[in-house]
Amino acid sequence: MDIIEFDEIASTNAYAKENIDKLGHFDIVLAAAQTAGRGRGGRAWLSQRGGLYFSVVLKPQAAQPAFTHAMALSVCDTLKSYGAPAYIKWPNDVLAGGKKLCGVLSEAVFENNFLKGIIIGTGINIAQSEIKTDKPAITLKQLGLMPHRKKLLNDILTLFGHNYNRLLKGGFDAIRAAYKANFPYLGKKISIDTGRGIITGTALDLDGAGRILVKTAGGVEAVSLGDMDF
Ligand code: BTN
Repeated sequence: MDIIEFDEIASTNAYAKENIDKLGHFDIVLAAAQTAGRGRGGRAWLSQRGGLYFSVVLKPQAAQPAFTHAMALSVCDTLKSYGAPAYIKWPNDVLAGGKKLCGVLSEAVFENNFLKGIIIGTGINIAQSEIKTDKPAITLKQLGLMPHRKKLLNDILTLFGHNYNRLLKGGFDAIRAAYKANFPYLGKKISIDTGRGIITGTALDLDGAGRILVKTAGGVEAVSLGDMDF
């Protein structure tokens, strides 16, 4: 595992994508600031100094959507161990008090249908003076926590390594109980914007593939991706 570190870069995900051939499994691209940080759904991720911005390069045999779930789980459990009241908003946001602490953007790199790698980009709000996301956001500093950036990265990567190995052996099922323990929305009314429409209903469960099962007026739907609201 190598850590390629930048003081400032456009986007650690973009760098990892462009350099995928040179990067190895579990290499990390880390930046103190990003000038063109990318978020989900084509949104920007404002990445001023004071936050933690990194991308993990994975080179698995096959992609699993739950790699991103595993990162959200690893961040959430690490932040909880530091004392943050963190929880997961499916599929891969980490919140505290309804405000976003962390976002994960996964990108797959293919060449001629061959999977060259998967990039798990993670941004954590630690102590930036200005945070701007699509939804209300919060920093660890505002929660009274001031973790050392590198220690936080190290603790997250250690946990992610464990969760990743469990996932490879047993799929999402292997981390499902741990994920559910951090997911307070079961039994609650939610809506999910899938990009093709809004699904509204009660969150029933998460299935063995990390999909959320929603009881809607028309029956139970298994949703694999989308922006969840509540
Ligand atoms: C989201 O929209 O919630 C996902 C945000 C992901 C941001 C991280 S910061 C490190 C990596 N590089 C990027 O350009 N984006 C991700």
